[in-house]
Amino acid sequence: NGITAQIACRINAQPVALEIDARASLLDMLRERLGLVGAKKGCDHGQCGACTVHVDGRRVASCLTLAAKVDGRDVTTIEGIAGADGLHPMQQAFIDHDALQCGYCTPGQIMAAIACVKEGHASTPEDIREYMSGNICRCGAYVGIVAAIEQAAPQIERG
Ligand code: FES
Ligand code: FES
Repeated sequence: NGITAQIACRINAQPVALEIDARASLLDMLRERLGLVGAKKGCDHGQCGACTVHVDGRRVASCLTLAAKVDGRDVTTIEGIAGADGLHPMQQAFIDHDALQCGYCTPGQIMAAIACVKEGHASTPEDIREYMSGNICRCGAYVGIVAAIEQAAPQIERG
């Protein structure tokens, strides 16, 4: 029986309030308490990017983020990015460019990719590769990932 904490936040625009283990990671809270299993546990040590989500619009490794720290904040996961009218432009671009093979890294890649564009780091393939370097793909789908980000970037910048 560890120390618990009460948190209230918004996850994919829905208010969520729950009691958590004060040491729990955001990744474990999403996957084990809320059934949001899009974010993956690749390494659990901040080294693969498979667990990437957004907190207040900025990308974080949810395995390294304490769930208690998102109290009062807005969390967005891969489950929350599609619009009422269909896929998010980055999701569509990943499909268009075959930017996935097994798909394990893909939710994290897409969340990192959206942030990469919003940070202004998607103007060249070199820039994209550098600012996506925290997201590992064991299948080596990097060529498609860079092409997908190049396709989606102008749509996201306009949106
Ligand atoms: Fe978080 Fe690998 S699971 S970075
Ligand atoms: Fe398999 Fe990236 S698509 S790890």
